[in-house]
Amino acid sequence: MNKSSWRSPSNIALVKYWGKYDPQLPANPSLSFTLKESYTETTLELLGESASEDFDFDIFLDSVKTDSFKPKIKQFLQRIEKDLDFLKGRRFSIETYNSFPHSSGIASSASGMSALALNLLSLSPEGKNLSQEAFFRKASEWSRLGSGSASRSVFGPLGLWGKTAGIAESSDEYAIPYQGKVDSVFTSFRDTILLVETGQKAVSSTAGHGLMNGHPFAAERFKQAHRNMADLQDILAQGDLAAFGELLESEALTLHAMMMSSRPYFILMKPGSLEIIEKIWQWRRETRKPMYFTLDAGANVHLLYPEAIEQEALEFVNSSLKGHLINGAYICDQVGNGPTPLT
Ligand code: DP6
Repeated sequence: MNKSSWRSPSNIALVKYWGKYDPQLPANPSLSFTLKESYTETTLELLGESASEDFDFDIFLDSVKTDSFKPKIKQFLQRIEKDLDFLKGRRFSIETYNSFPHSSGIASSASGMSALALNLLSLSPEGKNLSQEAFFRKASEWSRLGSGSASRSVFGPLGLWGKTAGIAESSDEYAIPYQGKVDSVFTSFRDTILLVETGQKAVSSTAGHGLMNGHPFAAERFKQAHRNMADLQDILAQGDLAAFGELLESEALTLHAMMMSSRPYFILMKPGSLEIIEKIWQWRRETRKPMYFTLDAGANVHLLYPEAIEQEALEFVNSSLKGHLINGAYICDQVGNGPTPLT
């Protein structure tokens, strides 16, 4: 077997990972909804022999050779080099395609790195001998070494990464599928991703994580994330939407508050992000419907709500929020079940 293809989804964190230490270990646990429609499809193909001592590969995005991706991929490969003997002396190609536009500002690192890790493991002698459970655990560990949040994309509908009180199997090394009770309202949750800003972010996540080292509020933030993990488990079990929304929005605003209070400080929200947040709060006051927001390390706003109010939510987006979006664009996503092999 010389070729492997996987589709792997993006994810949206409820409790955020923000702060890490070597080698790619999280400063606090995080929990995310795995997405369904926002994914990367990647094919890894082993080609002929290579005379190079180094990893010898080309990467193609939508069939176009994209050398700008190489350094990050190379760094990832070097981190798991001891497990990649089978790539030594071979040329290989990585073909990748995102279901969302590359310029949409949606981070492709979670879906992209997890898709690549799954392919590497599928082609490795080690991967061929693992049970299904051990395979996904290892794939999550490798994904983490590519990008922390990618570790959670390997599992759906919820992925948990980082040692968490009361969850014995949880680990900083890899994510696990969240096994606690989850009310069915959450497993069909919608995530409408509002595109406030497209293109490259001003500050990368990796740089932002670095600024949590020596951050004056870091220790308190990490404690709060642990508390939120404990509270979220009860909330998910009980299907308590109001408590869910409060925790979700507080996590998002805390993430951005950490950015604003680091040195150097920075702001990733845009005026449009804040205008949207105000309008969501107003809509909620008026309708009393359970629609909430979260943010990643960027200006885009994720609208999270139960399937039952999808129609009203999209009417609100179209009538009140579209004007704040680049070309009026948004992505309709929902909670999904994790990666699928394509070969
Ligand atoms: C704000 O996983 O992109 O989205 O590990 O440096 O690749 P690296 O960072 P990344 O950070 C994600 C940060 C976040 C929160 C989250 O997804 O938990």
